[in-house]
Amino acid sequence: MENSNQRIVLTGFMGVGKSTVARHLAFILKCEKVDLDTVIEETERRTLAEILDNDGEARFRQIETENLRKILCSSEARIVALGGGAWTIKENRQLIKQHRLITVWLESSFAHCWLNIVNSKRVRPLAKDKRQTRKLFDEREKLYCLADWHFIVKPDLTSFEIAKKIADEVFL
Ligand code: S3P
Repeated sequence: MENSNQRIVLTGFMGVGKSTVARHLAFILKCEKVDLDTVIEETERRTLAEILDNDGEARFRQIETENLRKILCSSEARIVALGGGAWTIKENRQLIKQHRLITVWLESSFAHCWLNIVNSKRVRPLAKDKRQTRKLFDEREKLYCLADWHFIVKPDLTSFEIAKKIADEVFL
């Protein structure tokens, strides 16, 4: 199958490593990547934490969808890294489908994601408390399951190795 122009979306829970895998994937495939959260922060000129804390999650989701639409319509990037909640919104899933991108779910254990969340410098307002975050993780599993491809992120694999596997299986 000739997949050389196929665009892909990376989804998965906070802390699973979407942005890092997207960066490696773009390097391996010699293509552009775009990070939805980064685009939101650049467009809004404030951090995600500021948007979520000041405007609330409902407004954040509107901004997220507006920016996803913009990326899907106008960005040349073949790799799109989503924020962890973007794929859980039906409108976003429909947009991604309409634009014929393949979605790859980076699937991992809660323990792995939580470890990355607590060790990260990034402030994640939706992952402040372990019990609440675990609940969110469990609720979202069934929605991430709707992705076209599921990649189990084993803790012994590096982000580069994960990207290489995705490149080999989805693109070649
Ligand atoms: C969110 C995940 C974040 C970011 C925002 C909301 C979520 O992205 O979009 O804080 O709802 O899971 P990461 O998955 O990159 O942390």
